[in-house]
Amino acid sequence: MPALEMLFSPGRLGRLETKNRLVMPPMVRNYTDEQGRVTPRYRAHIERIARGGVGTMILEASFVRPDGRGFSHQLGLHDDAVIDGLATLVEAAHTHGAVIGPQLFHAGRQTTSKVTGTQPVAPSAVPDPLMQEVPRALSREEIAEIVAAFGAAAARAEAAGCDFVEIHGAHGYLITQFLSPFTNRREDEYGGTPENRQRFLVEIVDAVRAAVSPDFPVIVRLSCDELVPGGLTPDDTIAIARRLEALGVAALDISAGNYASFTRGYMIPPMAREDGLLVPFAERVKGEVGVPVIAVGKLRDPVHADRIVAEGRADFVAIGRTLLADPDWPNKAREGRLEEINRCIACNQGCIARLFDQKDVWCTVNPETSREEVFAVAPKRALRITVVGGGPGGMTAARIAAERGHEVVLFERDDALGGQLFAAEAPPYRPGWRELREYLTREMERLGVDVRLGTEATAEMVRMTRPDAVVVAIGSSPRRPTIEVGPGAEAAFAVDILLGKRKVRSPVVIAGGGCSGAQTAEFLAEQGHQVTIVELTGAVATDAPPDERALLLERLAEHGVEIRTHTRVMRVDRGEVTVESAYGVETIPAATVVYCLGSRPNDGLADALRTTILDVRVIGDAVQARRVTEAIAEGALAVLGIERGVQRVGYEHDLALAAD
Ligand SMILES: Cc1cc2nc3c(=O)[nH]c(=O)nc-3n(C[C@H](O)[C@H](O)[C@H](O)COP(=O)(O)O)c2cc1C
Ligand code: SF4
Repeated sequence: MPALEMLFSPGRLGRLETKNRLVMPPMVRNYTDEQGRVTPRYRAHIERIARGGVGTMILEASFVRPDGRGFSHQLGLHDDAVIDGLATLVEAAHTHGAVIGPQLFHAGRQTTSKVTGTQPVAPSAVPDPLMQEVPRALSREEIAEIVAAFGAAAARAEAAGCDFVEIHGAHGYLITQFLSPFTNRREDEYGGTPENRQRFLVEIVDAVRAAVSPDFPVIVRLSCDELVPGGLTPDDTIAIARRLEALGVAALDISAGNYASFTRGYMIPPMAREDGLLVPFAERVKGEVGVPVIAVGKLRDPVHADRIVAEGRADFVAIGRTLLADPDWPNKAREGRLEEINRCIACNQGCIARLFDQKDVWCTVNPETSREEVFAVAPKRALRITVVGGGPGGMTAARIAAERGHEVVLFERDDALGGQLFAAEAPPYRPGWRELREYLTREMERLGVDVRLGTEATAEMVRMTRPDAVVVAIGSSPRRPTIEVGPGAEAAFAVDILLGKRKVRSPVVIAGGGCSGAQTAEFLAEQGHQVTIVELTGAVATDAPPDERALLLERLAEHGVEIRTHTRVMRVDRGEVTVESAYGVETIPAATVVYCLGSRPNDGLADALRTTILDVRVIGDAVQARRVTEAIAEGALAVLGIERGVQRVGYEHDLALAAD
């Protein structure tokens, strides 16, 4: 059992002692009410994370004024009406020995008038390439008002009992917009020289310090490298860090990137990026200042995290998505239960992709996240639940049911558990799906689920298990194309190729350029095949999270994969495919055609079961082909629904789940 001594040694943030070196970094959840106030759901979420043993909790970016709001249901610190709700979060953290404080935030140009109700503001009228709305340049008077709003927000945090505040000077929001020549074109005392560009941040630090008690810890988050041409570099950031140290900040929280560089995959590193890729930035800053430094970025392994602190690369390690995936990560690590950790797989599907759609944050691998209140209600009695289908949705139903004390039988047609995760993990840069499959498979054993492999369950076999309820999670099958196929044509489904059941010959044409089509293209191109993707719409892989997509497209280009958009496959013959586009009808050489045209639900079993079993629930792709995130959420919700005898359980969003 690894000792992890450094990770679980006390840390210091100014006057505060923390129980360990683990930090929950700020993450907007979109769980508040319309006024940015804490809801019971939010409190339950924060309490659940605090219970898992993290030492320091930085609450999400909280807008100091309504014109600085970045997300529809983000925490606010703009009004005294938020204080009571915030105090409930403080109480939840303190009960479990964690220290807690919010991140003070103004979005500047990185928001839209849809969210704020007014034109976004910025140092200069330069639009953000992602949000695209032209902001209004702030006057000196308005700057002074915003500086004062940061101070007032800090005072509210202290009034609510918070232990510290963090100022959000990273990720391209208003403070970075002033700091960076990428966004600041001002010619007054707030623009031009580094000192002038730092003025806004320095005034905010002063205003915050003046608004709180003398030794109240103030942390600042910075993007060490903005990763855009003309943006802040590590050298610029070191100068800023030194200035902040001189101003007496308690710690520096070191991240990277802004919205313009988001798709480079640093700010919230996706599956294709390595663990700990931002640590060198924290290390660089730590080498130049004496204040404690927090490192962040895809830190998922306790031994790795401990080493970062032990080697003096950072004083604290922030684990953001890691805590959404498993709030008990700190306690499990401390107790040496590393095999039981449900790892964040960096899929970005459930969390940041939903947030950027202005939805509430979920976690693909942990359906309890966002639903802690519903999960907290214990079942009235132990039931017998039979699950058919051992993919991610079925295994999750089995896991949640077994964890909640039910007796579970799980049927799986194949000889191994995993379902479509096997195909998902086959392309390059997709290791997370394997991690999820292995975790869920381990859990089946740990929780004593009666797994019956190699068994295609019939209604009769299911009845023999005498279940109180059945969860049908039998997934989907690839959709057959409705095109003409000539004699001798060689065609295959993508899933069969990814699973090694079919071989292909070059050149290959992939019919259908969704995310799985694009990934299959990469899988084949890496093996040296010549690949063309034919896609009916105007772009490929649009169903992938944006950073994942950008990196995938880059790699496809490097492999020389040809992409034909606005093009329809008309027929497939031996050695060629006939396609139609705005340029007319033509043929493309194709020794093998790969169909990647979506999936249709596997149905049938549920109806047969319903004749004798009262409670039968169909989940995941067996309802409608969607992503793993939805399959897992529905697997968990099916169990809660069975316990309570209602068809759907949860928040409003869960009611709309099937239509999502
Ligand atoms: C859903 C979500 C919301 C986030 N919101 C914030 C935020 O409010 N403020 C901030 O500084 N960073 C925010 N981040 C970035 C995280 O704090 C963290 O730096 C990033 O997720 C990388 O760390 P991780 O790999 O441990 O998750 C957010 C990330 C996610 C996934
Ligand atoms: S949704 Fe994916 S990236 Fe986000 S926390 Fe969960 S596993 Fe990690």
